[in-house]
This record gives sequence, structure tokens and C-alpha cells, in this order.
Amino acid sequence: MATLGQIIFYTMVTLIFVVAALIILILALAFSNASSEVMSSNTTPIANLGGDELLSCYLNTANPQTSVRQLSVIWEKKDTKGLVYKYVNGAPDLTGQDSQFKERTQLFSTGLPTGNASLLLRNVKSTDEGEYTCTIVSSDGGGKVNIHLRTAAFTAPTFTLSNGTLGAEASRWFPKPNVMWSDFDGKVLQGSTILTENSAGIFSVASTLHPVNTSATYSCTIGNDLVTAVSKVTTTGKPVFFLHLLPVFTSCGLAC
Ligand SMILES: *[C@@H]1O[C@H](CO)[C@@H](O)[C@H](O)[C@H]1NC(C)=O
Ligand SMILES: *[C@@H]1O[C@H](CO)[C@@H](O)[C@H](O)[C@H]1NC(C)=O
Ligand SMILES: *[C@@H]1O[C@H](CO)[C@@H](O)[C@H](O)[C@H]1NC(C)=O
Repeated sequence: MATLGQIIFYTMVTLIFVVAALIILILALAFSNASSEVMSSNTTPIANLGGDELLSCYLNTANPQTSVRQLSVIWEKKDTKGLVYKYVNGAPDLTGQDSQFKERTQLFSTGLPTGNASLLLRNVKSTDEGEYTCTIVSSDGGGKVNIHLRTAAFTAPTFTLSNGTLGAEASRWFPKPNVMWSDFDGKVLQGSTILTENSAGIFSVASTLHPVNTSATYSCTIGNDLVTAVSKVTTTGKPVFFLHLLPVFTSCGLAC
């Protein structure tokens, strides 16, 4: 038979465990909510050097149309002293902005009311590569997301056709690209490629394929580990001319 003292003791121990478990459950729920609400449509973007890049970050609310209250946004970059961008109390606060981002960054006034904190980075430089963190705080939830930005240079090739030789030229590629020609069926054809590196380390591409048939379709692939551009070219009857579809750029490089 348990004494009254023992019953009270075991009841207390059980109660303490139940209360502790409840507290842990509540904390876990609160934290999982706070960290899962900020999202990015692309956490590994590849920017074209000299171009503009959108770093996506937004609050994933139940209803994307409703406006978010008490919104503040902070964009930071790893190993960088100042901030990339800060928005608080309905306005940008750029007092703590790192000078390298001065006049190159903006948020979108159209998206902010609904919690879209995507950052536009203009005139991308190779030093912009790195790990960015977007933090959103609001009375409708918040959290953070990390975005790893990489840079490359890529331009669409232009084509020429003369005397049975198909030529492709592209002015800016980085890192060093490979060029591959193939026929309509995907069979690899032997082309001849010259890469010229300028003082900034950017490559220009000039490649030729010979001989080419009339009324045949060829594919020219320029790519490196980061970006691939596939162009389709169709030579047409006489006088010899060709059709060139805009290249398809993919940002996973030759690994695709
Ligand atoms: C956020 O805003 C950017 C820039 O206007 C837009 O491209 C993007 O689609 C928006 N994202 C969402 C989830 O609304
Ligand atoms: C065209 O190619 C043929 C055979 O390869 C060559 O004999 C001829 O000189 C070329 N013509 C021109 C204008 O390059
Ligand atoms: C070009 O013509 C040759 C000879 O007719 C043929 O064997 C070859 O498959 C053609 N190439 C393409 C890409 O159509």
C-alpha cells in the first residue's frame, strides 16, 4: 500500500513532466512557425556580370493578397560590415548600408505591402558573389532565408553563314566556356572554336562549323559549369540563308 506521502510525491513528479512537455511543445510550435514563413523562389541565383539580378524573398502568408502589418526587412551579406538594405517603419533606412551597395539596391514598393521583400541588385560585380540573408519581421509573421549568389558572364551568340560555313560569335562568357555543335538528331559534329580572353578575364567566343547542308537544322551549345545557352539554327534553300531562334539559357550549366 502506498502511503499518502508517496502518492503526493509521484503525482507531483508526473505533473512536472507533463508541464515540461507542454512548454517544449509550445516553444517548438512557435519556432517552427517563425522560421518557415519566409521563402525565396530561387536560393541559388546566377547573375550576369554588369546586369541586374533579383534576389527573391517574401513572407509566405495564407492569403498573398492581404497586406502585412508592421513590416521591416533587413538584407545582409556574409563577411560584410554594413548592411545591404534595410526597410523599417514604411521607409528605407540606409544609414547602415555598406558603401559597395550604395545606389545599386532597391526593394519594390508594389510588393512590400504584401510582404514581398525581393531585392533588385543593379550592375552586378564579381565581388557581389556570396551568401545573403533576408530577414522579415512583421506582426503577421517573419523569419529569414539564405540566398547564395554566384556570378557569370553570358551573351547570346549571333550566327553567320557563308560558303557552306556556319559561324557563331558571342562577345562575353565567364567562366571559360565550351562550344559544342550537333545536328538535328543530336549527333555531335566537329567544329572549330577560338576563345579570346580580355584583360578582365572575360572570354569572347568564335566558332565555325563546316561543311553545313542547306535546309538542315544545327544546334550550337555554349556553356560552362554555371550557364548553358543552346541555339538552334536552320539553313534554308537558295539563296543560302538561315533562321536563328533565340537561345535557351539554363542556369545549371553543363550539369543539366
Ligand atoms: C516579388 O516581387 C518581384 C519584383 O516585382 C516579382 O518579380 C516577384 O514575382 C514577386 N514574388 C512574389 C512571390 O510575389
Ligand atoms: C568556298 O569554298 C570552296 C571549297 O571549300 C573554295 O574553293 C572557295 O574558294 C570558297 N569561296 C570563298 C569565297 O571563300
Ligand atoms: C548533310 O548532307 C549529308 C549528305 O547528304 C548527310 O549525310 C548529312 O546527314 C547531312 N547533315 C545534316 C545535319 O543534315
